[in-house]
Amino acid sequence: MSTEAATKPAYSPGLAGVVAGETQICWVDPNAGLMYRGYDIHAMAQKANFEEVAYLLLNGELPDQQQLTHFTRQIAGERELPEQVFDMLRLLPKNMHPMDMLRTGVSMLAGFEPELNDHSHDANVRKAIRLIAKVSTLITDGWHIAHGQTPFPNDRDLTHAGNFLYKLTGSVPPDWQIRALDTIFILYADHEFNASTFAARVTASTLADMYAAVTSACGTLKGPLHGGANEESIYMLNEIKTPDRAEDWLKDRLAKKAKIMGFGHRVYKKGDSRVPVMREIARDFGKRTGNENWVPICEQLEQTMEREKGLCANVDLYAAPVFTMFGFDPALNTPIFAASRIAGWCAHVVEQHDHNRLIRPRSLYVGPPERPYPGTAK
Ligand SMILES: CC(C)(COP(=O)(O)OP(=O)(O)OC[C@H]1O[C@@H](n2cnc3c(N)ncnc32)[C@H](O)[C@@H]1OP(=O)(O)O)[C@@H](O)C(=O)NCCC(=O)NCCS
Repeated sequence: MSTEAATKPAYSPGLAGVVAGETQICWVDPNAGLMYRGYDIHAMAQKANFEEVAYLLLNGELPDQQQLTHFTRQIAGERELPEQVFDMLRLLPKNMHPMDMLRTGVSMLAGFEPELNDHSHDANVRKAIRLIAKVSTLITDGWHIAHGQTPFPNDRDLTHAGNFLYKLTGSVPPDWQIRALDTIFILYADHEFNASTFAARVTASTLADMYAAVTSACGTLKGPLHGGANEESIYMLNEIKTPDRAEDWLKDRLAKKAKIMGFGHRVYKKGDSRVPVMREIARDFGKRTGNENWVPICEQLEQTMEREKGLCANVDLYAAPVFTMFGFDPALNTPIFAASRIAGWCAHVVEQHDHNRLIRPRSLYVGPPERPYPGTAK
């Protein structure tokens, strides 16, 4: 590196367009494509289940039937939380946001992790399995505890998606709902160097442990410019109410220079690869449950936003009404995202620890020039 490049590195606000590392896990194609380990997301959304995708992200290859059965059982067998974590959840303020409960819970779980400071590949994969299972339980059981209810027991015969729905609602959902959530979990599972995954990798790059990295990721996902957008989107759609109001509502907000949740993306400029699948899930859910207003509202917003600002919808616009049709409180929207993205976060921590180099960029100093310090020496 030349002296000039070392003392005055190129600056890109928000790290836009900066390649901050290599990964074999996921490729986001700016032209509306997404691949996990070389497999197209659309094929997996149709044919895979979440466990298969989580295995692929963590291990690099798809499992055979025996490996998949074993992996599925491993996750199902790791769902229980230590009693002390339940005690802690009961102590938290009842109005605490479920993302904050999740972040706190992951942090506490570190204390019970027998392999916490073993960053070897195999130990990290074992920790990832525990985290995938336990993050789900933290969300579902934390929710019930915050509402003064007793959590439902885990059902080992149900998949990650099936058990998650059962634990939130208390009844085994119909197969089509489990399939819908499974597909959503596949769509949300990874997205290369998005903000929360990057936060996880920065933390892991100091050789901090996987729980520390996932705690950082949970804190980062909560923000409305990232995962929190799927909660904000439903407040927006509830305010709009009907498709005929969408265009005027949006134009009014744009005139006020407001940020519209569920629109725009740092990488995708020709559409979010996940939107067509999520839109169809929303349409199907609407037909089955008599909620056929949501998709036309979103489509009207999409057309207006394209015309006015040239911006496309992102996956969170359509995820928001789907979660509402499931019957979930809006505060659960971002935790549901986390119940899936935990697989991607862990895969990236494994990869970071396997090929580690400290992530430590430079800043551009724009403060006062050097000046004399006042006063006399003590
Ligand atoms: C995702 C997001 C943070 C990306 O930000 P970014 O990469 O810095 O955005 P861009 O550089 O592409 O923005 C280009 C222009 O479009 C505007 N813009 C981008 N997203 C917008 C949105 N959702 N609503 C209104 N204007 C938006 C920007 O303000 C900017 O305008 P300007 O040139 O007049 O300053 C941004 O699009 C956003 O805040 N979206 C809403 C939150 C959201 O849905 N997040 C989930 C992402 S999956």
